[in-house]
Amino acid sequence: MSRLLFVASEAFPLIKTGGLADIAGTLPEVLRQQGMDVRLLLPAYRHILDTIDSPATVAELDIAGTPLRLLATQLPGTQVETWLLDHPWFSQRPGNPYHDAGGQSWPDNADRFMLLSRLAAAISTGDAGLAWRPDVLHCNDWHTGPAVALTHLSEQRPLTVFTIHSLAHMGLFDRATFERLHLPGHFWHDSALEFYNQFSFIKGGLVYADYVTTVSPNYAHEICEAPGGMGLEGLLQSRRERLVGILNGIDHRVWNPASDPCLEHHYDAARLADKALNKAALQRSLGLAVADDRPLLGIVGRLVEQKGLELVLPMLGEMLAQPAQLVVLGTGERRYEEYLQHVAGAHPDAMSVILAYDETMAHRIEAAADIFLMPSLFEPCGLNQLYSLRYGTLPVVRAVGGLADTVVDATPQALAEGTATGFVFGPPHSGAFMEALQRAIALWRDRDSWRRVQATAMAQDFSWQRSAARYMELYSSAH
Ligand code: ADP
Ligand code: GLC
Repeated sequence: MSRLLFVASEAFPLIKTGGLADIAGTLPEVLRQQGMDVRLLLPAYRHILDTIDSPATVAELDIAGTPLRLLATQLPGTQVETWLLDHPWFSQRPGNPYHDAGGQSWPDNADRFMLLSRLAAAISTGDAGLAWRPDVLHCNDWHTGPAVALTHLSEQRPLTVFTIHSLAHMGLFDRATFERLHLPGHFWHDSALEFYNQFSFIKGGLVYADYVTTVSPNYAHEICEAPGGMGLEGLLQSRRERLVGILNGIDHRVWNPASDPCLEHHYDAARLADKALNKAALQRSLGLAVADDRPLLGIVGRLVEQKGLELVLPMLGEMLAQPAQLVVLGTGERRYEEYLQHVAGAHPDAMSVILAYDETMAHRIEAAADIFLMPSLFEPCGLNQLYSLRYGTLPVVRAVGGLADTVVDATPQALAEGTATGFVFGPPHSGAFMEALQRAIALWRDRDSWRRVQATAMAQDFSWQRSAARYMELYSSAH
């Protein structure tokens, strides 16, 4: 049986800030079911230690002069053995894994995630002295990039896979940080970890991994060109033969309207009338007018530029005047939060804004809304549009990244052929977004057509089985 060490900075349900956690909380279990001997490695954040039963100690280690403990627990709801890096940098830092309450990155993030990377490399090369050593090291996003580079300093190198969930976060630090961390001097080179005179964590993965993957086929194309490559397009183009786009799946145990424990009213494609009960329940609980003659629009996500808020905010008045209702759940940049709250305050029966991270509310909105809005400027994969399809909440998306790979626009032809699942627009402008939303609302008013598109959307298969098999193929190939 092949051994796999899967390393990430977050995994649902132990710790989650975004889609990476959904993937790291699901894919390792599916890979285990497909025959891998898996260990998931995460930092032992305070929040995790506070929520799990007392974990076993696997080893007390010294990693490049830093003493730490390796703890073991099971990822809840799975049989995945999860190792936790226990060090005060993680265990004595409550709150968000990456930043303080004001949104400022923790000042020692380079040290924290270099320690995670060093530990992953040491386990993978045998330098940690553990009895268990992986055949494959699979790292995710910038926090774990250096781990891949460090394995190249050893003769005992596992096969390495590095997954880009987003290029927007590169883990950039200054040269003094690079030197303080005592990395080998030859890593300071533009063919290694240097990026325009800065120290880039993500390049550790992009340059050195045997395979670089990203979370949709379309995003794999986009990042090989400007502007999608964000300055890394040349490097990614040079690795084209080793760059693979594998679409994310969704966890049907967690996201299934027929059994979702967060919902008061369960439904499926054959019982769509019960979806409306969720709408009425949410309208009531949020103080919106309980009306079934207006579409309820939903937004769930980080309130940041990436998610296309610049396209939505200028249109709020026009959206509500359709007439329509809008519910927004998210946290992020203060300017977006304040503006959304301001508009909602002026239209209390039509718009509700919840500035919080609330897993239950995210599920309720997916079930209650008629139309889900995701007009992202870029989107490596996107999970919320997949959850929306599954919940029969037809998405309005921009044709980028994974959104373009997963939503079929309701053109007259796609409607006639029965393949439409949502509404897709191209230009990153409010007008194009509004035009797509108006098409959605017009179709919503035609109840029979809407039901047909909902049924097609709900029947889409975004389960993990197929994508996990693609990872298995990579794992079994040569270095
Ligand atoms: P990204 O990872 O870029 O934030 P994704 O669509 O891949 O975008 O994944 C976002 C995940 O985070 C989804 O599971 C979504 O439900 C969840 N999420 C985002 N914001 C919130 C929030 N405020 N409350 C609850 N869940 C949220
Ligand atoms: C990132 C991307 C998102 C993707 C998620 C999981 O956060 O922004 O598009 O779905 O990672 O891969």
